[in-house]
Amino acid sequence: MNEDSNKYFPKHFFWGASSSAHQLEGGNTNQWSEWERVHAKEFAQLAHTRISWLPKWDEIKDQAQSPENYISGEGVEHFSRYKEDFEIIRELKLNAFRFGIEWSRIEPEEGQWNESAIEHYREYIRELRSRRIEPFANLWHWTEPVWFARLGGFKKRKNISYFTRFIQKIADELVEDLTYIITLNEPNVYTTFSYIVGEWPPEEKSLWAGQKVYRNLIKAHRESYYVLKRAKPQLQIGIAAQLANIQSKRPHNLIDTTATKWMRYYWNWWFLNRCRKEQDFIGFNYYFSDYYRGFWRDNPKVPLSDMGWYMEPEGLYPLLLRTWSHYKKPIFVTENGLADAKDEYRRWWLEETIVAMQKAVSEGVDLRGYFHWSLLDNFEWKYGWWPKFGLVAVDRKNNMKRTIRPSAKWFAKRIEKIHHE
Ligand code: BGC
Repeated sequence: MNEDSNKYFPKHFFWGASSSAHQLEGGNTNQWSEWERVHAKEFAQLAHTRISWLPKWDEIKDQAQSPENYISGEGVEHFSRYKEDFEIIRELKLNAFRFGIEWSRIEPEEGQWNESAIEHYREYIRELRSRRIEPFANLWHWTEPVWFARLGGFKKRKNISYFTRFIQKIADELVEDLTYIITLNEPNVYTTFSYIVGEWPPEEKSLWAGQKVYRNLIKAHRESYYVLKRAKPQLQIGIAAQLANIQSKRPHNLIDTTATKWMRYYWNWWFLNRCRKEQDFIGFNYYFSDYYRGFWRDNPKVPLSDMGWYMEPEGLYPLLLRTWSHYKKPIFVTENGLADAKDEYRRWWLEETIVAMQKAVSEGVDLRGYFHWSLLDNFEWKYGWWPKFGLVAVDRKNNMKRTIRPSAKWFAKRIEKIHHE
């Protein structure tokens, strides 16, 4: 695509990176950190059975088979080194950052507010603003205070009021310098892995539990939306949904096309449809194209990321068109990226992604921003530390040294060019 097409990006487009509190702050105590401690050894022992099929197994096996890999621990010390990380954001020419506010820090015990944690995030937001980086605050990214999880978490309808009380606290204390808020990250992924497949805490395997949690998250979002709007009507509020570019393996096969429709409806739209009114923008995370043969996912065998995920960055284009035609609201790509320790594919991924966005924007899609996952290498949940999603590498063995990857340097130049067109 020639350089002329740069003109299609809106002038105030947000070029950002995305992150979550638990995955990089360090020092968190929540239901997830408790679970890590209990399971680290077992995950190390099971690694061979679970992931030795991965293309880079030989390179990751030492890490994947050691229990420390499964402990978030000190994270990448972002909690104390955030100013240094914000300087890196500037160096990368980004003008927005999506970050998490960790509920378990703000309310470590039920009803007890930790003022120094609140002050920390106040300062954090101020530091972003002072560098002209637009803060996109994310209020729930799967982690919960231990006491909330013990009370049954989002499975119990009456527990929603604990969450909205936390949101009210945010509304009272932290929204002054904020315009953009994301309430929930990927409710569909969390519900599936924590309550249906049962691989994440609290490891339930029940469709019944799953549908309860899913519905309760809808209510939690809706109520949070109004709490926040009452506090500051100018706030722009949305969700970071997980949307896939779902396609039929055999485009003319009735079973495949039916499965595709069904999957698109339940995976992509079901949740968002139920909070249509309570979203000022549609935020979504894009990682996958999924091809369905019947109800089986049957993706091409290459190219694969380090996580073994089939990579089709251009799938963002049809997904943007479909999302726009469904909702006709401003769109943010709130996460997008790949695990690529050697930085072999990241530049290609970014180039294809930019083209996909340009095409969508040129056709009238109101796309307002793009956030790459992630700024820094971070703790990849059940997989631990070996997957490397960062624009910036972090050497956890060497004082958490940050090194900008070549693809990120390229990205920074590309963004500059777009801004200067
Ligand atoms: C999540 C992130 C995660 C990323 C890569 C997204 O589904 O929101 O927390 O690190 O995918 O797996």
